[in-house]
Amino acid sequence: MKKNEAKSRIEHLSAELKRHNHNYYVLNSPEITDFQYDLLLLELQELEKMFPEFAQKDSPTVNVGSDLSAKEQFEQFPHKYPMLSLSNTYNIGELEDFSNRISKGTDRPFTLTCELKFDGTAICLTYKKGKLFRALTRGDGTVGDDVTRNVLQIPSIPKQLVEGSNFPDEFEIRGEIYMPYNAFDKLNYQRELDEEQPFANPRNAASGSLKLQDPKQVKDRGLECTLYHLLCEEPVAPTHTQSLEKAKEWGLPVSEHFKECNTVEEVESFITFWDTERKKLPFATDGIVVKVNQLAIQTSLGYTAKSPRWATAYKFKPEEASTKLLSIDYQVGRTGAVTPVANLEPVQLSGTKVKRASLHNADQIKLMDIHIGDYVFVEKGGEIIPKITRVDINRRGFDIVPVEFPQNCPVCGTPLVKDEDEAKHFCPNRDECPPQIKGKFIHFIGRKAMDINAGEATIEQLYGKGYIKQLSDLYKLTEVQLLTLDKWKDKSVANFLKSLEESKKVPFHRLLFAIGIRHIGETTAKNIAQHFKTMDAIAAATREEILAIEEVGEKLADSIIGYFGKPEHLRVIGELKEYGLQMELDNTGKSIESEILKGMTIVISGNFTISRDDMKALIEAHSGKVGSSISGNTTYMVAGEKCGPSKLSKAEKLGVKVIGEEEFMNMLKN
Ligand code: IVH
Repeated sequence: MKKNEAKSRIEHLSAELKRHNHNYYVLNSPEITDFQYDLLLLELQELEKMFPEFAQKDSPTVNVGSDLSAKEQFEQFPHKYPMLSLSNTYNIGELEDFSNRISKGTDRPFTLTCELKFDGTAICLTYKKGKLFRALTRGDGTVGDDVTRNVLQIPSIPKQLVEGSNFPDEFEIRGEIYMPYNAFDKLNYQRELDEEQPFANPRNAASGSLKLQDPKQVKDRGLECTLYHLLCEEPVAPTHTQSLEKAKEWGLPVSEHFKECNTVEEVESFITFWDTERKKLPFATDGIVVKVNQLAIQTSLGYTAKSPRWATAYKFKPEEASTKLLSIDYQVGRTGAVTPVANLEPVQLSGTKVKRASLHNADQIKLMDIHIGDYVFVEKGGEIIPKITRVDINRRGFDIVPVEFPQNCPVCGTPLVKDEDEAKHFCPNRDECPPQIKGKFIHFIGRKAMDINAGEATIEQLYGKGYIKQLSDLYKLTEVQLLTLDKWKDKSVANFLKSLEESKKVPFHRLLFAIGIRHIGETTAKNIAQHFKTMDAIAAATREEILAIEEVGEKLADSIIGYFGKPEHLRVIGELKEYGLQMELDNTGKSIESEILKGMTIVISGNFTISRDDMKALIEAHSGKVGSSISGNTTYMVAGEKCGPSKLSKAEKLGVKVIGEEEFMNMLKN
């Protein structure tokens, strides 16, 4: 490679890796897999070795990525001993090199301990006189965020050590805070219901949870902790494993899965064993950490700028498998979106037999040039449903058949449509297509809509029995009908009827959102309700009148006109009105705190220290309007954590001022 090429590649890689560090450690939203990251880092390491004159002082090869939050969020404290990272390899053969390097660095005999590499977020706990004194995140390795208040909410971390168990007066112990799969699934399920962006994987969920501003919320997140590195002035034992044994006696959580090995072969067989066995664990692991067990040798080997010389990590490659694509099913979802799902020749992957995988949409199928009969690679990402990543072209045979995406809805037969700017095909028969009818009810009863005390299974049964088809049918249900539902008794019937009654008081804008007009989200519904004041006025409005509302584009206007143009819809709305649902705006209950934001339209994106709903309410309480998307009329965009990159670039393009949560709050204070 020429010098100037190397220079620009080094600059590019350094900048990219810094960006990925920020995505991973601060935003908790990585764009690339760990494996892709490690490949980039390896390339940079090799280039810096060949051209050291171009290596940056703060290169990602010598600096650990920083997880520090804004200073207002957490107090920061220096680490007593730097908190470093680990060197890693994906190549089991390189462990031999690791062991040889240690042999060269010491004359004394040593053993190697192998332990699981927990995929969470690093934590450093300080105990003083047996009491948990402080918990710091890794931060930038030198200073960390003080998350003690949050850590106190994690049940497996003792606040007080076992009395009389002979712990040193003061010591530090480091480990990992992680979120087991079941807690992760529960959290993401709730986030989807709340229309919040789900976390990509348990690691991001753990570090996001550890940085919550409200410790009470941390309590419900199901975080766990495992500790793997004891640090104190005077060692409590001559080896790492014995030190951890002691920590265990003091009541600290240490992993039971470790092994002391005499040879590299033993290390390798530990790795081989756990490469399959780890899939049965209830939490995520991404490799095996190998450490020199004798603490005196650890000390003599010391550290590089970024990691200890006495330890390394063997990382597991994301698993993929090649198998035959037998056929494709087309599933119609609640919104009418049609998703192709691949039926595969069953293949073993990450501990389970995979028979089905998502294919996303027609464009993806075309892009990957997938044919029925092809062998394809399936991979399990952070998500539970495996995905097809590419065709295994070397195994392509002659018996392949092109994929023909259906032209009609596989459930109701209606011709499918595809919006130009959406990748998915839709069945437009919103009122007659069974999965969409059920979807309409599930949306209607939702917490942010009518908040009716029922779930998907109830809707499924009510629809199955033919009791409900139109939304207004819900209010016609009788006790006798409800008692025919599975396991429903007098009490459940009474609860349900009471909740139906209460839903009649739900404010107009929520009803407008609940009836499920395509493209009307919560915020748009509020704006439209505010503008037209009554359902009748919306129904009577012309396209031009609707388009006159800021925020409302052509697609939405057409959708509203289309909805109210249907006599069936007007009939259902008429019935809902007769049952006493709110068809008009009621401004009486709304308290206005100030007029600071009067005339301003504010778009929020990302997560804040308060919930998104509270943020919206705050804007409205100060007389501002919440915008649902960035446009020329947007006054400010308030960007929180995990703010959508497309929104940011749109704001930049349109010259909309982007402010942070803090700046926004200060604005309200003035
Ligand atoms: S030892 C001085 N042991 O992996 C380095 N780290 O990718 C001490 N990790 O920063 C680290 N499980 O956050 C160690 N059993 C284990 C681990 C472990 C997970 C994390 C740790 C480290 C990161 C490096």
